[in-house]
Amino acid sequence: MPPPPARRLRRLRRSEAMRGMLRETALSPSDLVCPIFVQEGADSRTGVGPMPGAERIPVGEAAAEAGAAADLGIPAVMLFGIPKSKDEAGSGARAADGAVQRAAAGIKGALGDRIVVMADVCLCQYTSSGHCGLADAGGRGIDNDSSVAALAEVAVSQADAGVDVVSPSAMMDGQVAAIRAALDGAGFGGVAVMSHSAKHRSSLYAPFRGAAECAPRFGDRSTYQVPYTNPREAMAEVRSDVEEGVDIVMIKPALAYLDLIAEARRSFGVPVAAYSVSGEYAMVKAAAARGWLREEDAVHEILSSIKRAGADVIVTYFAMEAAAAMAGGKRR
Ligand code: PBG
Ligand code: ZN
Repeated sequence: MPPPPARRLRRLRRSEAMRGMLRETALSPSDLVCPIFVQEGADSRTGVGPMPGAERIPVGEAAAEAGAAADLGIPAVMLFGIPKSKDEAGSGARAADGAVQRAAAGIKGALGDRIVVMADVCLCQYTSSGHCGLADAGGRGIDNDSSVAALAEVAVSQADAGVDVVSPSAMMDGQVAAIRAALDGAGFGGVAVMSHSAKHRSSLYAPFRGAAECAPRFGDRSTYQVPYTNPREAMAEVRSDVEEGVDIVMIKPALAYLDLIAEARRSFGVPVAAYSVSGEYAMVKAAAARGWLREEDAVHEILSSIKRAGADVIVTYFAMEAAAAMAGGKRR
């Protein structure tokens, strides 16, 4: 017989009470942000094939949707707009009566500061090219600096509608500084910027592109999104956003990028958000639909791991479902 182990870690796992006392990571509805797709001109909700449970909703239903999130203890929603028409300049993104702007005004009117309204700042749903920035003169590439100027106008139009946190996702160089300066110049010094700082070129966005109708018409997004092979480059993106005055940085996607979430948390003194993207959602939904895993348990485990890695905020399509499950009070 070997000598008895000096350290018996199982002593700490003997009861529910003991495990509860020693829990190192606790997930709460207040960690979550609920994405909402608002569709211009729609008079009813439509489902999204590869994202069962997610819906595109009419603008007029946004306040009720946000209210349902707030009732579950979710502190924020993130608005994505689907416009009726697109053009080369993506001008719909900054329309004062655009879906995002009207939804934001409706939510703030109904709920005020009971909920934080975040909005995606990008052009890809609005450009005929489906790209996040504006096409260059040759029409084959994406021009950085004119895109940045357009994004700054989008952010100001959203702030004007009542958005609390603008969230640029276009991965253009200098977008945070330009947006910060434009907001300040327009009198919106209190509006925060949560940048998609390290947004990777990922296969996991495919379901979202169907939902938001924003797939690129030519090429792909590899000239602006970060290669998932390059962690130093990802941290350089985060660092430059911090230097440009960002309030919250984001790593995207989340589950396959926990190393980067942990590193951003260690390296920078700003809150870190993680975006658990549509493909992460679809994978769990597809497996659960086949009975291959228990959805509620898998979701809790995945979201807990993202928080454990260091995320202060998690954007997830599971937000409502996860918050409702937490209210149900199952012991973990
Ligand atoms: C576009 C955008 C994308 C997502 C959020 N904003 C997709 C893309 O870059 O093609 C992905 C979100 C998701 O997959 O859940 N700016
Ligand atoms: Zn985009």
